[in-house]
Amino acid sequence: MYAEDVRIVCPCIPFYLDEFSAMRKCWCGLFIRAGVEDGSVLHGVSEPPPGPVEVRVAAEGDLREGEGKAVTIGKRRIALFRTASGWHALSNVCRHWGGPLAEGGVEGEFVMCPWHGWRYDVRTGATDHPDAEVKVYPVTVRDGEVFVTV
Ligand code: FES
Repeated sequence: MYAEDVRIVCPCIPFYLDEFSAMRKCWCGLFIRAGVEDGSVLHGVSEPPPGPVEVRVAAEGDLREGEGKAVTIGKRRIALFRTASGWHALSNVCRHWGGPLAEGGVEGEFVMCPWHGWRYDVRTGATDHPDAEVKVYPVTVRDGEVFVTV
């Protein structure tokens, strides 16, 4: 009965039996080996799901209006800009061929990709090219420090 249920409920178990035996649980922590009395000692079982995280990326004095810089948060490459409307953070990867938007020229609320000139609105990530907008991230300025939430 148990073996039959496992095959129905978890698609991973039949393929990763060795790994799951060593970890004493499945990837998701839905199935734990018999004999484990405290599931919290198993990596990935009792950790809270990753939620939004606010990360300090600059001091307010680091950029003047019309300037940008690249920052990295985890695996995310982010372009940080300061414009007349405030601070903005968006993906640093142009949707055309991956140019570094943080190195582009800023004009008003727009940045121009340094490689081939696609223009992005730093407030929204929108561009003139259909379905090619880039992701934007919330920015907070507090006590002279700039934070991006990812
Ligand atoms: S890589 Fe950005 S416009 Fe081509």
